[in-house]
Amino acid sequence: MKILLIGASGTIGQAVAKALNNEHTVIGANYSGGDVNVDIGDKASIEAMFEKVGKIDAIVSTAGLANFAPLHELTDADYALALDNKLMGQINLMRLGQDYLNENGSVTITSGVLAQEPMQGSGVISMANGALGSFVKAASLELEGIRFNAVSPIFVKETMAMMGMDTESGLSAVDTAKAYVAAVTGSMNGETLAATTFA
Ligand SMILES: NC(=O)c1ccc[n+]([C@@H]2O[C@H](COP(=O)([O-])OP(=O)(O)OC[C@H]3O[C@@H](n4cnc5c(N)ncnc54)[C@H](OP(=O)(O)O)[C@@H]3O)[C@@H](O)[C@H]2O)c1
Repeated sequence: MKILLIGASGTIGQAVAKALNNEHTVIGANYSGGDVNVDIGDKASIEAMFEKVGKIDAIVSTAGLANFAPLHELTDADYALALDNKLMGQINLMRLGQDYLNENGSVTITSGVLAQEPMQGSGVISMANGALGSFVKAASLELEGIRFNAVSPIFVKETMAMMGMDTESGLSAVDTAKAYVAAVTGSMNGETLAATTFA
């Protein structure tokens, strides 16, 4: 399969690229660097990426920005970033990318456990994650010949380490990547795959 991976240079993206690379051709898209550049917050940039890459068998997104901050500190810009980047950025990857998918192609995007298990400070992240799960479920009822799923990671151990946190409760990037491989190679549709289930 020829797979376009958006967010390939990230903590999760690097592990997903490695897991898929053995059996598939992975084209890495990042904000800067990589095989191709894209800003998922900008539809013209997404369109330009697909034009450059051409026909593919699968689209995987391990991108999506949203800020962690107490509710009373959240600004309009924080809400806008979560909505324009994490939410619509990934939805637009499906909307614009479907025309570039070969028959029986798939789109896999990234939600997160904060949809189901919010915590103080996760307001806009939980908002976007919850909406992504609902959208995937609804859109998959209408998409023909395309499987559309989300992966919901828990805190990644490498991210926790980077933040100086105890990594005990996290899942490694390598284990998190297994859910993405399952979404790309499996037959599920309209699902949000809990990363812990596939680890
Ligand atoms: N890490 C965790 O613990 C965790 C837990 C739950 C959910 N998630 C979700 O998983 C996803 C990936 O997380 P991560 O920790 O792996 O992220 P990360 O390490 O920060 O990597 C982000 C990736 O996205 C790219 N990117 C940044 N801004 C972009 C933009 N505007 N348009 C396109 N690509 C852009 C980056 O490219 P550059 O390198 O060029 O900047 C990089 O490849 C996110 O949606 C996050 O919310 C992460």
